[in-house]
Amino acid sequence: MADKIKTIAVLTSGGDAPGMNAAIRAVVRTGLARGLKVKGIKKGYAGLLNEEIIDMQAKDVSDIIQRGGTILGTARCLEFKQPEVQARGAEICRKHGIDGIVVIGGDGSYRGAQALSRNGINTIGLPGTIDLDISCTDYTIGFDTAVNTAMDAIDKVKDTSSSHERCSIIEVMGRGAGYIALWCGIANGAEDILIPEKYDFNEQNIINNIIDNRKKGKTHHIIINAEGVGHSQSMAKRIEAATGIETRATILGYMQRGGNPTATDRYYASIMGAKAVDILIEGKTNRVVGHQRGEFVDIDIEEALNMDKSIDDYEFEVSKLLSV
Ligand code: ADP
Ligand code: F6P
Repeated sequence: MADKIKTIAVLTSGGDAPGMNAAIRAVVRTGLARGLKVKGIKKGYAGLLNEEIIDMQAKDVSDIIQRGGTILGTARCLEFKQPEVQARGAEICRKHGIDGIVVIGGDGSYRGAQALSRNGINTIGLPGTIDLDISCTDYTIGFDTAVNTAMDAIDKVKDTSSSHERCSIIEVMGRGAGYIALWCGIANGAEDILIPEKYDFNEQNIINNIIDNRKKGKTHHIIINAEGVGHSQSMAKRIEAATGIETRATILGYMQRGGNPTATDRYYASIMGAKAVDILIEGKTNRVVGHQRGEFVDIDIEEALNMDKSIDDYEFEVSKLLSV
């Protein structure tokens, strides 16, 4: 073990995601197993600045792997974007004897991690977001659970939509990214999938599709609309006016961020949490753990933030082929 790292800390930042607790548990238990002291920082960078820092033992993370949310709490702390505040954050780490931090969050949180790293605190990021919008990894903690939660909810809406022969627009989260929408669209067999990366904002095409499907005898028409396209309520009104078919909008909202993580989220979060600790011990800093082509990897944060990720054209084409 490198001499440098003796005490590590873990924090969660940005939007919570199911599986964050599994990651916290893995960081704490791997750290302790490797002979380190482990601390938890509450409420993201805001908690760091307020010195809400607690010692963590193995029992403190008992019985949490199956729980949604994050036991440490999370926050969006805008003042952490200021260089002098970041320097203060690093100073607080030193005051508490923290020489390595694991930050669980999304791209924004990585920028905070990068700043801590620049200020001399070894920092590793873990991809924690339901949105799957982190370019350097094909998996993010929380996505699998969120998609499954949304898929179950959409199945339920589809039942009532069919009974009433209605059209349903169901809006799912994802910020500017359409991954949750695309996955649900395929998994729920939606008739239309609107994602910011691909939607041409030609509502007439959707209207024609609804009318054609009705002629073919379909009793429902499910449109999965990504948050990044939005405006589901007004879209429903326009579609109802144009088609004469009752149309309802359902915005699934925060239910997608909660709930017990799936086995996939627990598994990936556990391996990633352990890996973050082990690479800190190797002396690495300013890196993000990811999963690429079947392997757990670590990537420089700067490089990770500059990578691009886009919806796969073939997968989107398949979603269209299957929605007839
Ligand atoms: P996510 O991490 O899910 O992308 P946010 O973009 O809201 O979520 O970022 C989470 C937190 O990370 C912010 O509230 C802030 O504390 C920190 N953060 C975001 N951007 C920066 C930045 N440019 N520099 C330093 N810290 C940042
Ligand atoms: O990043 C996760 C997410 O749930 C996005 O899908 C959504 O756009 C955003 O967070 C909502 O953020 P907040 O909880 O701050 O309203």
